[in-house]
Amino acid sequence: MNQPSDPQTAFKQAAAAAAVRLVTSGMKVGLGTGSTAIHATRRIAELLAAGELHDIVAFATSRATHQEAVRLGIPLLEDGLPVDLDLVIDGADEVDPALDLIKGGGGALLREKIVAQASRRLIIVADESKLSPRLGTHWPVPVEVLSFAWRSQARFLERLGARWSIRRDADGGQFVTDSGNMILDCAFGPIADPARLAAALAARAGIVEHGLFIGLATDLIVAGPAGIQHTVRQDE
Ligand code: A5P
Repeated sequence: MNQPSDPQTAFKQAAAAAAVRLVTSGMKVGLGTGSTAIHATRRIAELLAAGELHDIVAFATSRATHQEAVRLGIPLLEDGLPVDLDLVIDGADEVDPALDLIKGGGGALLREKIVAQASRRLIIVADESKLSPRLGTHWPVPVEVLSFAWRSQARFLERLGARWSIRRDADGGQFVTDSGNMILDCAFGPIADPARLAAALAARAGIVEHGLFIGLATDLIVAGPAGIQHTVRQDE
């Protein structure tokens, strides 16, 4: 493993490496998206190359991760996710004490949630900056919407209390998700009842998916100056 120069990258790498220690040969593994989860993908590739892991098949949560996995030579399940996964290792933007999450900072929330729901375990890897007393305190909730009649969804989101903005890509153009939709980033401020908000968003036609991951994470692995902390969801 390369030694990173900045502490935050070192924490991301350490959390990812700890998560990969839960991967055993023969597993079907989901590969997350983002600057933390990518370290897990690279670590799995290293262990496969070294012969310390074998018979792994993986499934990626985004085109970007899929491309990296192909480049690294990780065997991939074909599209369609024909089996349940043993575990998926993914990042998060915000994590609350109940292990509920805001995800989708990288725009991959829809595929990430599909893969998480098809997996027995969702292991979240993060540095301490992602910890939050209440979801929405630090991060907007990404809401993936069909571009058809999107302004109607924007009005609905305002009625729910959101200040929204259209997600842009690095060139300033409108961000387009892997599934061809747009994202409205919705600042709610600290969210009193994330499960209730999630249910309201899920019930609205035109909203394809949202970045509230409620009751999905089974494990949280956080790295910081004091070391690594592994928390397992209480009701597991
Ligand atoms: C991708 O859509 C996201 O859900 C990421 O997992 C999340 O944004 C965390 O990314 P970083 O690890 O880059 O902070």
